[in-house]
Amino acid sequence: MTYSRIAGTGRYLPEKILTNFDLEKMVDTTDEWIRTRTGVERRHCVAPDQTTSDMCVEAAKLAMESAGVGPADIDMVIVGTTSPDLIFPNVGTLVQHRLGIPSCPAFSLEAACTGFIYALTTADKFIKADAAKRVLVIGAECITKLIDWDDRNTCVLFGDGAGAVILEPSDEPGIMACHLGADGQYKELLYYPFGASKDLAKAGTDEAAIRMSGKDVFKVAVHTLGDVASKTLDAAGIDKSELDWLVPHQANLRIIQATAKRLDLPMEKVIVTVQDHGNTSAASVPLALDVGVRDGRIQRGQLVLMEAFGGGFTWGSVLMRF
Ligand code: COA
Repeated sequence: MTYSRIAGTGRYLPEKILTNFDLEKMVDTTDEWIRTRTGVERRHCVAPDQTTSDMCVEAAKLAMESAGVGPADIDMVIVGTTSPDLIFPNVGTLVQHRLGIPSCPAFSLEAACTGFIYALTTADKFIKADAAKRVLVIGAECITKLIDWDDRNTCVLFGDGAGAVILEPSDEPGIMACHLGADGQYKELLYYPFGASKDLAKAGTDEAAIRMSGKDVFKVAVHTLGDVASKTLDAAGIDKSELDWLVPHQANLRIIQATAKRLDLPMEKVIVTVQDHGNTSAASVPLALDVGVRDGRIQRGQLVLMEAFGGGFTWGSVLMRF
């Protein structure tokens, strides 16, 4: 049987940093409120002319370098994003072209903050089916371009970034289990109010901003993330006590702590980066993974559980031996 394994990781964060103290000057908030409710201390924001594919390219170069592969070795590109450069062509094709990756399937996949987990799971299936050899999988978001900067309920939470991995075949796992889920009944709790086929005229108006019912999102997220983690561990026949690392979606420190508690994991075994970049949606899991790998905490052979939750709602997790 063929499995898939992550051969290399990379990340990119835009240069511009917006701290909680900067936000104090923009809306009625305080550093103390933001830190205690969310764990966020700063976030990175793209420059006005910078796009999601710009960030993808930088993260992908580092992932390819760490995997020891070049553009010619890649035969599929999947980008999880909810903030594409254009409605079409998809970000995957933009990245493929700019990196000089030869003709191959390249597509974007939209599952809000769960985008990377959906993309990684999809790549795993292609490799297991012997339909791809080496997949560039990216989670990337220009989420600050979708924010109402006068709305303190949302503007303090989000940031931009990209994380990438190279997934390749392996005789041994690698990825051991994936679990994806969604429930569209929760649409009203977290959404962006227009798109290509609905109310496009709202673009550029005051209505063009993320809408969120924070308290309700919080409750469903905590419940669902604990559940999805257990399902993935059960599917692989792994007990939670065997986990070396949890790499969670970096939306809110309190949600991360609640998930770790349900897994009986001490916070020392959780990669937490939310303080440095806020909620970067689909980018957050691969960003955190790359931090843990590059600072030497996540070692080859260790058991790592990644999980995410986002608008839709969507959710998912991937268990792997790194
Ligand atoms: N600064 C100061 N006060 C703020 C504020 C801010 N940035 N944002 C909201 N408040 C106020 C509210 O207006 C409210 O005031 P009121 O009591 O006078 O009405 C008060 O703080 C409490 O608001 P509440 O919404 O109850 O806070 P909370 O403890 O639920 O925390 C979130 C708010 C958004 C941090 C929290 O609900 C959360 O993290 N939810 C999940 C969000 C998320 O992760 N979304 C992405 C999922 S992928």
